[in-house]
Amino acid sequence: MTQMTEQRPVDQTVASKIALPDAQTVTSVRHFTDSLFSFRVTRPRSLRFRSGEFVMIGLMGESGKPLLRAYSIASPAWDEELEFYSIKVQDGPLTSRLQHIQPGDEIILRPKPVGTLVHDALLPGNRLWLFATGTGFAPFASLLRDPETWEKYDEVVVTHTCRDVAELTYGREIVEALPDDPLIGEMVAGKLRYYPTTTREVSPKMGRITTLIENGEVFADLGLPPLDPGVDRAMVCGSLAFNLDIKALLEKAGLREGANSDPAEFVIEKAFVG
Ligand code: A2P
Repeated sequence: MTQMTEQRPVDQTVASKIALPDAQTVTSVRHFTDSLFSFRVTRPRSLRFRSGEFVMIGLMGESGKPLLRAYSIASPAWDEELEFYSIKVQDGPLTSRLQHIQPGDEIILRPKPVGTLVHDALLPGNRLWLFATGTGFAPFASLLRDPETWEKYDEVVVTHTCRDVAELTYGREIVEALPDDPLIGEMVAGKLRYYPTTTREVSPKMGRITTLIENGEVFADLGLPPLDPGVDRAMVCGSLAFNLDIKALLEKAGLREGANSDPAEFVIEKAFVG
């Protein structure tokens, strides 16, 4: 807690407005591109969540009211800290400021996790597809580091579509570290398939994942059969347009959308704009 002195009237105002249990301390920050960064914060002792869920986080606004946005928790449920992955919008009310946070700063975190990208919302299956665009990778960063994901499925296919190669970095590093992870490395062996694509910058695999599903390229590249509701489960997280397009493709293949209260073959959530 910041010590309140007469020399720091601004801190005094902020500190008095953050309800104590909702203030968390930034422990590390990493910038990937001009428009993407990740950060870690302390975790409230009482916070329990299911990998894939989101919480409201933010900063105190200039008006003295909290400025909060929904952020998927990118760290797994067992992690001592919480990790988040964010865009930077230069004139965005929150991320124009949030992008400048440093270790030791405080953010606001409302400890009420919710969301549909959870194992409970899917019926048992053999192969899990995780379809992400942009910062939609965040909930999958959590799920991929959770042992439950590897206990439940024989195969996990991660697709991530971004405009440029550098935007894939956060996800690529998490995926590439999985086989060496002391907790789940052995479970991951032989089960993980990674399929990154770019749509603007030249890379080994180009194209929107929706196009690559429609023309069958993703299945040919990975040596997998077409989507089958008896085998395949899917979680989707990206822009609204992406979600709608992929939902149509999954439904065409016979998969049905599930929810916590009514599990089925796929679940969808919009990637939140910070
Ligand atoms: P594209 O470059 O063809 O628009 P954004 O940065 O706009 O959120 O997009 C992130 C990635 O998602 C980009 O590679 C973008 O491709 C892709 N994308 C955007 N909309 C869709 C969609 N409706 N279906 C599939 N991919 C999409």
